[in-house]
Amino acid sequence: MNKKICITGASKGIGLAEAKLLSENNELFLHASNKSSFKDTSFKNAHLFGQDFTNLENVAIFVEELKQKTDSLDILVNNAGLMFIEKFADFLDKDINTLLTLNLHAQLLVTKKLIPLLLKSKDPHIIFMSSMSAKNRIIGESVYAATKAGIMQFAHVLRNELAGKIRVSTIHSWGVNTWNDTEGAEILSPGSIAETLEFIISRKRPFLVESIDLGHEAHWNGAAAPWSPKL
Ligand SMILES: NC(=O)c1ccc[n+]([C@@H]2O[C@H](COP(=O)([O-])OP(=O)(O)OC[C@H]3O[C@@H](n4cnc5c(N)ncnc54)[C@H](OP(=O)(O)O)[C@@H]3O)[C@@H](O)[C@H]2O)c1
Repeated sequence: MNKKICITGASKGIGLAEAKLLSENNELFLHASNKSSFKDTSFKNAHLFGQDFTNLENVAIFVEELKQKTDSLDILVNNAGLMFIEKFADFLDKDINTLLTLNLHAQLLVTKKLIPLLLKSKDPHIIFMSSMSAKNRIIGESVYAATKAGIMQFAHVLRNELAGKIRVSTIHSWGVNTWNDTEGAEILSPGSIAETLEFIISRKRPFLVESIDLGHEAHWNGAAAPWSPKL
């Protein structure tokens, strides 16, 4: 593809799988909360960045560092995010703040600050990693769902505002096994999300994958929860 691709949350899990899949013919700009988070430094053509986005001042520092390496970008993958599960009444204030800041506010600021670089590309594309939690009502995921629904709706409006200039896509996924490749066979693998990303960004204009929902045949997929009566 020979593209300049920026991926946040690229030190592990889904972002790392995406970076590995796209590393062959592209120049990668990989971000995590700290440079030391990158255990795999075998990428051929990658620049590594580390800033904690729960402090929003660090977003500007990241963008300034990135601008020292490039003045344009083809692809921005807004992937960095965390999930805390708790009944809302028991949620710690600091955890609410972390989720809203990292999953939502930081993604908006990263996007805003990188749009000028993307506009220098002939075929720019922004991809947001949302979640099927944005579309469901799973107990314990109130704050996470709020951030992912926020990103989903933000992306819908941004897609219209940037139409004809920058393509905007959103991935909504059910559970992904980001902790152990040999366990969790009944959920998606990080590699399957990476392949989906590759599919989305390799479609030729004017084709646009606006958003995509990913599930697993063996998963309960919201139709029935594990605690629902058996059919
Ligand atoms: N796993 C799932 O089941 C699933 C399903 C649907 C959607 N998603 C979404 O997919 C994305 C990736 O999830 P994942 O499961 O691959 O997560 P993960 O394995 O926990 O990786 C999270 C990534 O985000 C970075 N990150 C965490 N805290 C940060 C901070 N304060 N500042 C900057 N970067 C930070 C991490 O960097 P460090 O290594 O430095 O901490 C890491 O690279 C998230 O947005 C998540 O909500 C996940």
